[in-house]
Amino acid sequence: MPVAMTDLPTKFPDFGLTPHQRRQAVRGHYWEWLGMDGEHGEIWCYSDRFSYRRGETVALHVSSTASSFSVAIVRDGGAETQLFEKAGIAARWQDTPDQCSVVGCGWDASFEFRVGDDWPSGAYRVTLTADGRDGKPIRCHHLFIVTPQPGKKRGRVLQVAATGTWLAYNTWGGSNHYEGITGPNRDQYAPMVSTQRPWCRGFIVLPKEAPRVPLEVAVPPKTAPRYPHMEWAFATGYSKKYASSGWASYDSHFFRFAERAGYGVDLASQHELHFSPEILDGYDCVVFVGHDEYWTWEMRDAVDAYVELGGHAARFAGNFMWQTRLEDEGRRQVCYKYRARAEDPAYRGGDVTRATTSWEAPEIGRPGAMTFGLNATRGLYAGWGGCAPRGVRGFPVYRPEHWAFAGTGIYYGDLLGADSHVYGYEVDGLDHEIRGGLPYPTPDGGAPDGLQILAVGMAAQVEESADIAFEDQFLADEDGRFTAETLFGEASEANLEKVKRGNGMIVNFPRGKGEVFHAGSCEWVAGLLTQDAMVERVTKNVLDRYLGRS
Ligand SMILES: [Fe+2]
Repeated sequence: MPVAMTDLPTKFPDFGLTPHQRRQAVRGHYWEWLGMDGEHGEIWCYSDRFSYRRGETVALHVSSTASSFSVAIVRDGGAETQLFEKAGIAARWQDTPDQCSVVGCGWDASFEFRVGDDWPSGAYRVTLTADGRDGKPIRCHHLFIVTPQPGKKRGRVLQVAATGTWLAYNTWGGSNHYEGITGPNRDQYAPMVSTQRPWCRGFIVLPKEAPRVPLEVAVPPKTAPRYPHMEWAFATGYSKKYASSGWASYDSHFFRFAERAGYGVDLASQHELHFSPEILDGYDCVVFVGHDEYWTWEMRDAVDAYVELGGHAARFAGNFMWQTRLEDEGRRQVCYKYRARAEDPAYRGGDVTRATTSWEAPEIGRPGAMTFGLNATRGLYAGWGGCAPRGVRGFPVYRPEHWAFAGTGIYYGDLLGADSHVYGYEVDGLDHEIRGGLPYPTPDGGAPDGLQILAVGMAAQVEESADIAFEDQFLADEDGRFTAETLFGEASEANLEKVKRGNGMIVNFPRGKGEVFHAGSCEWVAGLLTQDAMVERVTKNVLDRYLGRS
């Protein structure tokens, strides 16, 4: 059941860590690696691709201390259906390069199987089980996507999993687009990450008690920020980034909700958007959910063309931030991020519009708002750390008469989804002004023509409090200074002042023959996970309209 706000505890949850361990949980760099479980033994696997069509062969690359394993494959949708099972498959230990996060693990294929002709499009969870050295079972989880068949898609939804963001946050092997073991001191994040490695612990399967990022605490006065999700990860051995990305924390909640609600849903990875944009053909509605931060130029071209020609894009997601490039037939994702202007070859004789930095960098000339109506650097953090930890939790609604809110009973000034905490932990926004009690995009804010702002909440790009010590800040002003420099050329105090106050919005706009609806928050899926009736109603209103049902 949803928790009413007044029921929130006033203490942070305790996972048995010492103050030093709590600090390590947040500031330390820890990751999954081959050999980490020592005497217990271990098993890991990845597949050669993210997604497959019916009839194609999936190759599983396995490294294990065990000499054999069993595999079970379950379709993870509105219901769980086991489709494949096999025991006694041979395994062996396969060594891994030190920089496997960057170059891939390079393990030989251990086991191959064919995607059945009757396997519907969706997410397929793979569980490998073997005997550990101490006789206890060892296990790992993987996931691959079965893409839809070509042909008529009327009445069906295509969900595109945020696989670029999964890749960016995957901690397996030590490096991702956030932290890493690259560079001379083995302390740099990796601008290149490989798909050829296992997913980190918690991206595919999570226990129910795993905290989400937004705080479920009524934070007492003058409290230094704490991070329950990272403390829980540190205490349990899950990935430091389990709550930041992945099927288990985000994409799965929409997919399961939609199937249970009776929608026909197909699934694709972002690699299809990039390499086979025709996958969108024939759909009346394409959906993006969760933490959806990393896109290529080509993926945006696919969505833009689809909407222009009459398609409907519904994004219930946040943080449309970085341009990436795909290399090596999609096996490598490139994003230099904060170091792009110094290191990305796009700036040195390459095509600078493909630079792997913020979409809002002027040299790229393609802010995210041109595709989805909102920008990442106008939004950002809400509901955690020192960024609005006592903030709104739900979207403050300004235009309750809009078709998206039909049947919710919501009023002007209400919070949509506050009980399920759909607003956070990263949101997308727009520069705007309030006139006569209603929000409007500012003329030079880059909003698409005809964009209506339905809801707006506050967000912050900088952690600052007159009463909390700077050393207790984790996010501090690093992102704010980067945005100030990227947008205005210099990370000065004056420019920081221009960017540090953000917002998160729900917007709707027509484009060409099509239309876009965008609820710009990572946590929208939390409302579907906890069956928040108003969040479900709005989600259905959008799907029904875009599928021509209403
Ligand atoms: Fe993000």
